[in-house]
Amino acid sequence: MALEFSPEARKRADEILSRYPQDRKKSAVVPLLHLAQEEWGYVTPEAMVCVADMIGCSPVKVAEIATFYPMYNKQPVGKYEIHVCHTLPCALTGCAEVLGYLSEKLGLQPGETGEDKRFTLKKIECLAACDRGPVMLVNKTLYTNLTPEKIDDILKSLE
Ligand code: FES
Repeated sequence: MALEFSPEARKRADEILSRYPQDRKKSAVVPLLHLAQEEWGYVTPEAMVCVADMIGCSPVKVAEIATFYPMYNKQPVGKYEIHVCHTLPCALTGCAEVLGYLSEKLGLQPGETGEDKRFTLKKIECLAACDRGPVMLVNKTLYTNLTPEKIDDILKSLE
């Protein structure tokens, strides 16, 4: 059976589609993939087919976009996705130490998700907070000027 958005997500999808002219529905692929990821946690091949049907293009074209951008998860992730910036300015402020600290605390290497599905640890490119490194993004929240103590507090604050 084909995958379908929930009624709430379908409403949001329709709102997204309404922003584009009829002959430009394909341009909605990026926000619809974001919506699919919110809806199902990650972008499955079935979700790509669902998005392709909505915008009237081939699933292969949607898959090309979904696989090009690293922000789309192609496999399940933890409840908290921790992205540590490892671009040069953050590298100069100690992002390797932050990554090492998190890796040790969570028992995860970058790219891994814990068995309890609580955390996924990832490296990411610049988060546009280069003057406040080291930096990490936990789901949609940005944390800056990280220290081990600050990281401990952040992890404690996550339910
Ligand atoms: S280099 Fe890390 S936020 Fe820009």
